[in-house]
Amino acid sequence: MISKVILVTGGSRGLGEKIVERLSSNSTYKIYYSYSREGSSGPSSRYNNATAVRCDQRDEAQVTGCVSDILSREGRLDVLVNNACPSFMYCDFLNSEWDMFQDLIDVNLRGSFLFTREVSKIMKLQGGGRIINILTSFVLNVPPEKIPHYITAKYALLGLSKALAAELCKFGITVNMVSPGLMRTSLSSYLPPKYMEAAAAKNPMKRLTSTEDAASAVEFLISENARFLNGVNIPVNGGESF
Ligand SMILES: NC(=O)c1ccc[n+]([C@@H]2O[C@H](COP(=O)([O-])OP(=O)(O)OC[C@H]3O[C@@H](n4cnc5c(N)ncnc54)[C@H](OP(=O)(O)O)[C@@H]3O)[C@@H](O)[C@H]2O)c1
Repeated sequence: MISKVILVTGGSRGLGEKIVERLSSNSTYKIYYSYSREGSSGPSSRYNNATAVRCDQRDEAQVTGCVSDILSREGRLDVLVNNACPSFMYCDFLNSEWDMFQDLIDVNLRGSFLFTREVSKIMKLQGGGRIINILTSFVLNVPPEKIPHYITAKYALLGLSKALAAELCKFGITVNMVSPGLMRTSLSSYLPPKYMEAAAAKNPMKRLTSTEDAASAVEFLISENARFLNGVNIPVNGGESF
């Protein structure tokens, strides 16, 4: 008996993969996760109840196709986790090009907008659902230099999350956020080991965030225990931001 049908975007590696791994231990969950690049589908054969779907969320037709495909297979969609983010390089603002901003905005903001709009139509008919958007602790502190494109895209997603938390709750749809601290994934691999060590040393709990830490918060937001949480942004960073 399936209790929830869940879609995790960008679930082929890093935090998304950990979210899929953790959720798949609940055999009543049916999980779909997206990725965009050929050959990067991730370890779906490891799970009995998780299926990889190729969907480049920069393309509206692929997003609508992905959602309608899941709906025709399962007849419902209960949870959306907007996690996908493309790799990027650091660059000081004075040397930045708009394309670098556009690339991150297209996936983090526009892709999440498209998925959320399509999935919310289904959730409204069902009488409710959960949407969880992955941000970054950088939206809670003075942001670091040289990633204004990433910071801008995540603040935009924070704005969309709050607007939708206010607007969609009348349909029983909650929108919450998780803001992890720095994690060791391919997204952060542009940072030199010394930067990572210094970040861990500066953390009040003397370590970086693990993908397990952040996936646990997502798991909580999906659970019954979080049924009356809406518009909340959970910082998963060992106390770096209070
Ligand atoms: N790593 C950190 O330190 C850190 C800290 C705070 C927050 N976060 C956030 O955590 C989330 C996951 O990051 P991560 O570190 O796990 O990154 P990651 O390991 O690089 O994984 C990114 C995922 O997004 C997918 N993706 C990228 N572009 C896509 C597109 N156009 N369409 C669909 N999927 C796409 C990737 O698959 P393909 O390559 O196949 O497209 C991959 O599955 C992101 O929202 C990130 O901002 C990360």
